[in-house]
Amino acid sequence: MVWIKLKELLTSNMESIGGMNSTLVKVLAGSAGLYVVYKLCDGLLRLPRIGRYSDRYILVTGCGSGFGLELVKRLDSLGCHVFAGCRTESSVAQLTNCCSDRVMPFLMDVAKPNSIRKALLIVSNKLSEDGKELWAVVNNAGTGLGAGPLEWITIDDYRASNAVNLYGMIDVTMTFLPLIKKSRGRVVIMSSMAGRIVIPGTCPYYVSKHGTEAFSDELRRSMRPYSGLKVSIIEPGNYLSNLTSGTNIGANIDRSWNEAPAEIRQEFGEHYYKSVREARLKRNPSKRISDVTNAYEHAIFGRYPRPRYVVGRDAQIVLRPLTWLPEWLADWLIEKMTFKPPLPAALMLTS
Ligand SMILES: NC(=O)c1ccc[n+]([C@@H]2O[C@H](COP(=O)([O-])OP(=O)(O)OC[C@H]3O[C@@H](n4cnc5c(N)ncnc54)[C@H](OP(=O)(O)O)[C@@H]3O)[C@@H](O)[C@H]2O)c1
Repeated sequence: MVWIKLKELLTSNMESIGGMNSTLVKVLAGSAGLYVVYKLCDGLLRLPRIGRYSDRYILVTGCGSGFGLELVKRLDSLGCHVFAGCRTESSVAQLTNCCSDRVMPFLMDVAKPNSIRKALLIVSNKLSEDGKELWAVVNNAGTGLGAGPLEWITIDDYRASNAVNLYGMIDVTMTFLPLIKKSRGRVVIMSSMAGRIVIPGTCPYYVSKHGTEAFSDELRRSMRPYSGLKVSIIEPGNYLSNLTSGTNIGANIDRSWNEAPAEIRQEFGEHYYKSVREARLKRNPSKRISDVTNAYEHAIFGRYPRPRYVVGRDAQIVLRPLTWLPEWLADWLIEKMTFKPPLPAALMLTS
């Protein structure tokens, strides 16, 4: 009797588990289907472009090398007019030689408010001369000062990084915003995955890019009443440029180490410095700079640009998913995935 009851109970449970399983499968299949439809609609929505390239006047900052230089060449090849802000005379000369006369290179140091005001004059004069409007401002200029463990980095490294990456970008954006409001054009802001998640080793850069994200989000939301005006953030992973080159990173780590106070150098020891330096130089950035210029181009000319462009496989597959995880798991994974430095000399002595 008991056995029969038990059998009945088990059979009914198995049936309900089977029922649950098939419901789960239906829910999963339905969600996957919805996701595919969403991706398809999203992809289709992003296809239309705003044309009339030869009528478009665009300001780009930090055009001396890397993404900025590539973007200027791309815009030039499309037939646009480009105001190309450069930090040095040699970059101005380089652009004058390599581009058509639609490209107007001039000195513009985004860390110097006076230089930004002069740039506004240059741009405004040219626009009124040609009877045109400024279609887009692209905040590309950036620097990566201050590398190594937190205690090697000085407060001046944070100031220098923020002066360009954050305050410079804000100053440029707010200075040119009235022109963009008039044209209902585009503000494009270069951030980084460093603005979303912190991988230890270059803290001032991460601080400046987290600030960049905050400003860009606020700007995008507050510009909603200006229909047509769009704000986009670009978030690349690791790409090869002057900023990420071994020479630049090595020099940055050397400077931080050489300028660190004597007691910090003693605490960490030469072996720590050498292994951190060696590990940083082993990173292998992507050479597909066109991923970034494609994102820039879409943010400028897509009829419906994305609010955020996460660019590169490392950014899409590894870094962005890390931002969704609980801290304990993200911390553990970051420790497993990145170089684990040796113990500082002082801790080796006591352990
Ligand atoms: N490479 C990456 O993996 C990566 C990833 C995410 C985001 N980013 C961002 O992408 C942007 C471009 O960097 P990049 O990788 O192409 O490096 P890059 O080749 O070093 O380009 C940075 C440009 O910014 C200019 N610049 C620096 N300080 C400036 C200032 N005060 N005023 C005006 N221009 C200034 C530099 O001019 P000088 O050469 O004359 O100093 C250079 O032309 C930066 O905002 C960077 O943070 C890069």
